[in-house]
Amino acid sequence: MNHKKFIKDRYDKTAEFYDRRYREIQELKYKIILEKISIKHNQIILDIGSGTGNSFLYLDKYNSFKYGVDFSIESLKTYQRKPSRENSAQLICADIEFLPFKKDIFEIIFVVTVLQNLPDPRNSLKEIKQICQHGGLIVLSLLKKKFGMERIKQILDEVDLLPLDIIDDEKCEDIIIFIENRKS
Ligand SMILES: C[S@@+](CC[C@H](N)C(=O)[O-])C[C@H]1O[C@@H](n2cnc3c(N)ncnc32)[C@H](O)[C@@H]1O
Repeated sequence: MNHKKFIKDRYDKTAEFYDRRYREIQELKYKIILEKISIKHNQIILDIGSGTGNSFLYLDKYNSFKYGVDFSIESLKTYQRKPSRENSAQLICADIEFLPFKKDIFEIIFVVTVLQNLPDPRNSLKEIKQICQHGGLIVLSLLKKKFGMERIKQILDEVDLLPLDIIDDEKCEDIIIFIENRKS
């Protein structure tokens, strides 16, 4: 079985468990992110690797257009079954290395605790850069135990993404990076 199929099957099999086990941990990350940024009326937001939709429970209070993409159909269905959801996010089942969107669409893109699953995160980051508007915001949240600061800086440099701000909160298991998308 290839690596990607292994990861997808694992998230499919554990979607309900993942949601119970990690919801609070993930919510802290979205809380930190949303304290830092401002979301304007009607902005177009994409959550890449949206999983069981932890971001949307926070984003629902904003009047924006919300999309989630994930290759684990069971994770997407777990979000859809949540009674607390306002059903405002459009979900797409797809691989984040082959994103099914036109260029320059999204104003804000979240990628929260996802890139550790990819053998080479640069492929996905190149896709993300393409579909994010010029001047748009990309927020990456990366597991500290998988990504050291030097490696993060090297990866971002190689895909030509320049951090605006980096948050390394000791209460949080991720490093959170805010990037303004600049197209050359
Ligand atoms: C640790 S979970 C994080 C989910 C969500 N961002 C959150 O904060 O709860 C990682 C998610 O990335 C998704 N994922 C991993 N590799 C992917 C790929 N190549 N394409 C699409 N989704 C992927 C998994 O299915 C899983 O839902």
